[in-house]
Amino acid sequence: MSSFRTLDDADLAGKRVLVRVDLNVPMEDGKVSDLTRLERIVPTLTDIADCGGKVIILAHFGRPKGVDPSQSLKAVVPALADVLKRPVAFAADCIGDVAARAVDAIKPGEILVLENTRFHKGEEKNEPDFVKALAANGDIFVADAFSAAHRAHASTEGLGHVLPAYAGRTMQAELDALTRALEKPERPVVAVVGGAKVSTKLDLLGNLSKKVDFLVIGGGMANTFLAAEGKPVGKSLCEHDLVDTARAIVAEAAQNGCRIVLPVDVVCAKDFKAHAPHRVCGIDDVATDEMILDIGPKSVEHVVSVLGRAKTLVWNGPFGAFELEPFDNGTVSVAEAAAELTQAGHLVSVAGGGDTVAALNQAGAAERFTYVSTAGGAFLEWLEGKPLPGVDVLRT
Ligand code: 3PG
Ligand code: MG
Repeated sequence: MSSFRTLDDADLAGKRVLVRVDLNVPMEDGKVSDLTRLERIVPTLTDIADCGGKVIILAHFGRPKGVDPSQSLKAVVPALADVLKRPVAFAADCIGDVAARAVDAIKPGEILVLENTRFHKGEEKNEPDFVKALAANGDIFVADAFSAAHRAHASTEGLGHVLPAYAGRTMQAELDALTRALEKPERPVVAVVGGAKVSTKLDLLGNLSKKVDFLVIGGGMANTFLAAEGKPVGKSLCEHDLVDTARAIVAEAAQNGCRIVLPVDVVCAKDFKAHAPHRVCGIDDVATDEMILDIGPKSVEHVVSVLGRAKTLVWNGPFGAFELEPFDNGTVSVAEAAAELTQAGHLVSVAGGGDTVAALNQAGAAERFTYVSTAGGAFLEWLEGKPLPGVDVLRT
């Protein structure tokens, strides 16, 4: 990742280091319910602290419209301190006197969280005055929130223009993994794209079909492609108005030398609920009162054989209605196969995007993938081939 300055290039001792991380973590009853994002930023924060920098954390939480105590980052501080096994101070504002006094009060090597940047409207508008007010508390800017890098906000992008900017360890790891998966991958490359709707993934499918050798389509999306081939989909989730679009995607992929892989058999049921009575059938045999809830065993076998021939996998979105047992079978089986191939050294596997991480965790496969991104929207925009402002500002 030679085109980015990293922490290894930074002189941190005695510096006030503004670190943008992602503390937008899920909460239940006022407590952090998933520590993944906090665990990911530990190396960056401890590296800065151990090099004698003042660690001054900038982050957003939720989507508040102005100051909103229910969206205070204060609630995240105890969990962060636990994960870091170090004390973490908190300041009730991210700019002005309150922030400046708190920054003064910590010693080099100590850690401070500043209040939700989105309490100020200048954050999302990337207002120069707000950027300046943030920058007043730092000598160096470290960007470690890949998952917010699709936002051109003051704390994700603006600061990179006014302070010397470096990629943190998480950012570095994300960029390395993404580069290995799509920019300079070992071929053949397989993309697995699942999820409910084609309409939300048009750009993504278009971009991937230019870059990968096999495009495996799963989830509700696959039904639209099956319908486009004239297959009966019963009352399955399906965007019938997009069958022409699906045909165009298939034609474009063919032109790019990309093979589209669709289900060859399916699991269908009459009700959308866990353990609904179900059956396996061919893609020509779905009845009008049935819905497709997962891929069938032959499809699993086919996808696994494609993976067996591949060197690189990028995965976004589950195959079936993975949140309903046993319709998680397809996702779990393919995830397990991908994890095994990865562990055996045959496959570089990179996954990301909302549901995907949940599905791979449920399959018990996430830890055995090469890299699982904690980013949702940013991962998708990257798959779509869109520029990420919070990454671009770091390029040297
Ligand atoms: C996320 O949680 O996906 C990131 O922190 C971005 O949050 P946002 O979608 O509210 O910008
Ligand atoms: Mg989001």
